[in-house]
Order: sequence, then structure tokens, then C-alpha cells
Amino acid sequence: MADNDGQRAAPNAMAIFGASGDLTKRKLIPALYNLRQDGLLPDDFAIIGISRREMSDEEFREKLREDMAKFATVKTDPAIWDWLADRVHYMAGDAADPDTYRRLRERLEGFGKTAGIKNYFFYMATAPRFFGPVCEQLREAGLTQEEEVGGWRRVVFEKPFGHDLKSARELNQQLGRTLTEDQIYRIDHYLGKETVQNILVFRFANGIFEPLWNHRYIDHVQITVAESIGVGDRGGYYDKSGALRDMVPNHIFQLISLTCMEPPISFEAAAVRDEQAKVLRSLAPLSPEEALQLAVRGQYGPGTANGEKVEGYRGEPGVPRDSGTETFVAMKLTLDNWRWAGVPIYLRTGKCLPLRATEISIQFNKAPFTLFRKTEVSRLPSSRLVIRLQPDEGISLSFGAKVPGPILKLGQVDMNFQYEDYFGTTPSTGYERLLYDCMCGDQTLFQRADMTEASWKIVTPILDLWEALTPRNFPNYAAGTWGPKEADELLGRDGREWAGCGEC
Ligand code: BG6
Repeated sequence: MADNDGQRAAPNAMAIFGASGDLTKRKLIPALYNLRQDGLLPDDFAIIGISRREMSDEEFREKLREDMAKFATVKTDPAIWDWLADRVHYMAGDAADPDTYRRLRERLEGFGKTAGIKNYFFYMATAPRFFGPVCEQLREAGLTQEEEVGGWRRVVFEKPFGHDLKSARELNQQLGRTLTEDQIYRIDHYLGKETVQNILVFRFANGIFEPLWNHRYIDHVQITVAESIGVGDRGGYYDKSGALRDMVPNHIFQLISLTCMEPPISFEAAAVRDEQAKVLRSLAPLSPEEALQLAVRGQYGPGTANGEKVEGYRGEPGVPRDSGTETFVAMKLTLDNWRWAGVPIYLRTGKCLPLRATEISIQFNKAPFTLFRKTEVSRLPSSRLVIRLQPDEGISLSFGAKVPGPILKLGQVDMNFQYEDYFGTTPSTGYERLLYDCMCGDQTLFQRADMTEASWKIVTPILDLWEALTPRNFPNYAAGTWGPKEADELLGRDGREWAGCGEC
């Protein structure tokens, strides 16, 4: 992974398209602040925000200062904020107008004259339909070519990266005409989470787990990404996306690839991403018949979620009253490869579930022989390793132990590691590492073109099937419950059940 060893990044400028939107104020600016506080931003640094709204540099700074009061992850130190604010600039412009790019170039070159900045990266915090056209315009304006300028040019893309396999391919091709793959940074914010990065360290920096990490010892894997909140004011976006598109080919498949990949030959970006891509390519596609059996969708109806009464998804702002969009998905997948042959991977994600929890649960095989048949022990529990990614990050191993007393009884106990106990907590936005890596040219935590396409290849046939078959039973789970009963049946048919998430 990154050989970025806490050094300041090289002088650079960051141009944010869509700068008046939510991402800039909620994540990007607080993350840049944190990076400066940690001594990782160079002195020669500049930010230029671009969006349609007319604003002066001063107005933009003032707006961000007010936003920081809400979204900073730490108490802000006025000296650090002033340092950052001095480097914030703004330019109103229409993304379709070539003049915007001519003026942008002038501003960027101006930073070069005053602050010695020759490296630029462009952050696409815009709707995906602008990704291709903006890059074309950047190229036309001479802002993507690296040769002869003595500096680097990179472009960061927010998700969603395409909405199905075809559109992802087209987008990759379109970007390929203006940028080289090593200029393209496809962000998946899950990879910015400390605990997600820790999956690799846990697996490959310890000799104890890896020998067990295969079909011989693992019965199955479960991945849960549960959210207690509903879609809030994102109904307009979400209704066109749905839970499958929104969470699975990106965040959840990243978790699968890190959990299931082979040890890379090094922590270089190419080596790590090669192994991740192999996992994604070995996900077995579901035929339509299989998808009907193995992919479950749900939509929340009225209930209580996050301590509040919820009207149901169809009552959310921006959502049609007869919406057929899923807010919950559960699936059973398998990996067609040597290590994981026959090991099901069950995943589930949804809105308005009983709690917020993201975790990966590795269920080990049961003991091969029940020594305890003539005792009170009727059913041997299986050992389970749970990697909790949020909210209380940690790892726990649960296994059977004898309950003290003259009668042989088994209880399930936990060995529990909480991140916080050892390392304290450093509140962050999750974008710090990703922005810093982009400034350092480290693509390990960004998705490569082939990874995005391999992911869509699995998900697209299910999306097509679901689109063709309008769901008749929506809403099919009450807000505040664990999704539709079919999600339990999916595991129940295999003699298994969903585990953990602080409930069981
Ligand atoms: C985003 C999705 O990518 O991830 C949202 O669009 C979802 O719908 C969010 O709520 C979850 O992220 P996190 O970091 O809160 O788990």
C-alpha cells in the first residue's frame, strides 16, 4: 500500500467541480483541514472551487468557515483554519462552457507564479453525467497533459461510476480517451475507512489467521452493511439507484475483495489491485433463475427507525408513491476459485434497519465430531470471527466455552478487541487518506477500470431482472426491522442464520 510515510505531499492545487454541493462542505474541506493539522499538506497548496453560483473568493471562504462549524471532525484551531482559508479560491463557471476551462487554467497558472504550484488534481464532486464532458474540456484546455509541464495531472471521480455494465464501460472508454489509467482516481469512500484498510493488515501481517482462511476451515462469510436511517432528502437520487446499485458493486464488493483476495506480492497499488480484481472476476454470475432464488429485495414501509416514526419509503420526499425501488438487498454469492470453492458469501444491506452496523463475519466450520453427545450440549456453536467496521470498530472472536459447574454446559464467549481501547479515536471524515494518497500518486485504495467493470458484470443481470419484474409485495418490511422474511429464508434454506450486529 502507500509508501506515503507521513511526509508532506508535493506542492499542488485541487480544483473542485461542484464545489457548492454537499460533499465539499461535509467531507472535503474538513478532511483537508485535518490533513493540514497532521502536517501532511504542503505549504504551497491551493484549492479552487468551481460551480455555477456567483460568489467571490471571500464569500466562498466565509461560507466554508460557517460550514466547518457544523462539519469539522475536531475542534478547529483558528490558526490552521486561517492557513487553509488563505488558500481557498472560487470561480463561477458553467461546466459546458469552454471559457470556464480557459479561466480555470489562468487561475491555476497564477498559483504556479505565486506559489510554485505545478501539480493539479481535479475533483469531480458533480453528477456522473458531467464526468466525461468535463474531462474532454480539461483536455481541450491543455489541463490534463503531463508531458512538458513538469507536474502531474490527476482526476478524482466520486461514485456512482456508471449505472450498469454498459455505462461503466462507456465511461471508462470515454475517460481513456482523455486520461491515462494512472491519472484516474475512482473513489470508494469505504476504502478510506481505517478499519477497512485494517482488513489487509489483519490478514497479512499476522501468521495466525491466514492458514485458516479458506474453504477447509471456513463455513461461510456474512457481510452486513446496515443503516438505521432512511433515505432522508436523497429520495430523488436514491429512487433511480436503489440499494443494489448504491451499495453492492462498490462498497460491499470492495469488502469482499479485501476479505477474500490472495496475498499480493507487495503492497504496491498494482499488486494489491491485481488480487482484488481477481476476486471480483471470480464472483460467479447468477443466472435469472438463480437470481430469483438468491437475490432478495425489500422496501421499508411504516415503522420506527432511529428512534423516530417513519412513514415508509414511498412517503419520503422525492419518492413516487408507487415506487418499486428496493431499499434492502440480500444475496448469496460464491467465488469460483480454489480458496473459496463451496463457501457461500451472504451479504445484506438496507435502510431503516434496527441499527447502524457494518461488519464482516467469518463463520468457521463446526468441530468435526461431537464429543458431547450424552451431555446437555445439544448443538455445538461454530466459532466466528467478526470484523466490525463501524460504528464501534474492532475485531472479535467468539467460540464455545464451558460454563462453570458440575454439569457440562457450553456457552458462547467473545474475545473482543476494540480499536478505541488501544489507539483511542481520531475522528475523521474518511477522506483524509484518499485525498492524501491522490496527492502522493498512490492508487492502491482507488478502483481500477477492470474492477468497476467486473463488479457491474455481476450486478447488472440482477438489476435487469428486477426491472423486468415489478415487485408486487412492496413495502415488505417495517422500518426498524431486519428486512423482509425472504432474507432470513435465504440463509434458513442452507441451515444457517444471520449473525451478530450487536443483537445476537
Ligand atoms: C453512500 C451511499 O455511498 O454510502 C449512501 O450512497 C450510504 O446511501 C452511504 O448511506 C453509507 O456510507 P457510510 O460511510 O455511512 O457507511
